[in-house]
Amino acid sequence: MKEFKEPLIVGVVGAGTMGQGIAQLAAQNGSSVVLYDQLESQLTKARVQLEKSLERLKEKNKISFEQRMEIGSRIAYTNVIAAFSECDLVIEAIVEDREAKMNLLKGLENIVSEKCILSSNTSSISITALGSALLHPERFCGIHFFNPAPVMPLVEIIPGLRTDPNLIEKCRLLLQRWNKNPVVAKDAPGFIVNRIARPYYGEALRIVEEGIATENQIDSVMRCAGGFKMGPFELMDLIGIDVNLMVTQTVYKDFFYDPKYKPSLLQTRMVEAGLLGRKTGVGFYSYPANITNVAV
Ligand code: NAI
Repeated sequence: MKEFKEPLIVGVVGAGTMGQGIAQLAAQNGSSVVLYDQLESQLTKARVQLEKSLERLKEKNKISFEQRMEIGSRIAYTNVIAAFSECDLVIEAIVEDREAKMNLLKGLENIVSEKCILSSNTSSISITALGSALLHPERFCGIHFFNPAPVMPLVEIIPGLRTDPNLIEKCRLLLQRWNKNPVVAKDAPGFIVNRIARPYYGEALRIVEEGIATENQIDSVMRCAGGFKMGPFELMDLIGIDVNLMVTQTVYKDFFYDPKYKPSLLQTRMVEAGLLGRKTGVGFYSYPANITNVAV
């Protein structure tokens, strides 16, 4: 069968920046969502941020009070992985680490039903490599959303070498129904967008390291003169400086250490210091407690 039969039960693994956004998107489109994280504290945070995000949609009259309540009630928060047993589609959005993702996928395959599609929201890791953790790699693909997931139209769908092509078509049709603009990308480091973005962030960081301009000056120039909605440092703060660094490290390594993708020392030190951007309140800029990393 080429199409998903909706409403779906969607599982989201990882209740961080992306997991929250993907859960909101799926629930807004009528799916029941199981949002899982290994940290109880992260689930609590996710629930608060998701409720805030839905409240903002209501205040902007984008949804009614009834819709707000209905969407919220479609999301179940859990730290019990067995809750994925009924899912039609599971989207993994945990830390950008190959081993962690492979271990998780291996465990998931024992829990989900035979017909369940497994996917990863990885920004850069080989889908073929992640799929090799599974007994049935044909049921697995990359579904790469952009931040904030409920808002950004682009989604990259990435087949691994052993992915069933029917599954790609099924995901493409589903994402179109969710009002997204899916693009099928080849399984290469960083796929399309994150490969283009590496030298962009890399040069911005090097300009600061060389003392040529400040973060603020670069962001202002890109916004005011370049027409970008956000400058590179504002964007890194939104994405998460740790996530951004991990993506660069993967692309650098997977392109056999091509110096074009060399990670920045400044960025590395910031991650070591725990200055990760909006999610920790401080990154290249400081943020008041009411600014979250999930935008409506
Ligand atoms: P995050 O750091 O905000 O959240 C990751 C969450 O996963 C945390 O809540 C953590 O507790 C949880 N986690 C870690 N290991 C786990 C495990 N083994 N089992 C269950 N939960 C676990 O990260 P973020 O930014 O949401 O990124 C998640 C994925 O999405 C990464 O692969 C990243 O590359 C990708 N991505 C991130 C984007 C961004 O703008 N932040 C954009 C598009 C993709």
